[in-house]
Amino acid sequence: MADEIYSEIILDLYKNPQNFGHLKEYDIKASGGNPICGDEVSFEVKIDQDKINEIKFVGEGCAISKASSSLLTEMAKGKPLWEVKKISNQDVFESLGGVIQTRIKCALLGISVLKMGIEKFEQNGKRKTEVQNLRI
Ligand code: FES
Repeated sequence: MADEIYSEIILDLYKNPQNFGHLKEYDIKASGGNPICGDEVSFEVKIDQDKINEIKFVGEGCAISKASSSLLTEMAKGKPLWEVKKISNQDVFESLGGVIQTRIKCALLGISVLKMGIEKFEQNGKRKTEVQNLRI
């Protein structure tokens, strides 16, 4: 049964994701997905003095990609951008309670899209930035 490969953390967050939805205003909107399965995630981020003040996400994806995106919003909130960019793949795997080899791309979907969005924002002189169709 498919559920057996998911930890309790993943199943809980899949059913009740944190910070799911849209912000009224944002400085970064980064959307992208995994072209192999078609799963997509989109983050909206409000920045205040180089820190992530608010962050929300929406997306259609598997349990692991949704849970990891949800956990990521919790990890990133209140942190300076430089610190968010340092969140490692290992940090993501640990937050999920471990990830099996075949689902690594699922676990990294959110962090990859968010980091690409932050990079574009910085390249854009920290002005409002929207990036779509990012592919991991
Ligand atoms: Fe598509 Fe997990 S199956 S991201």
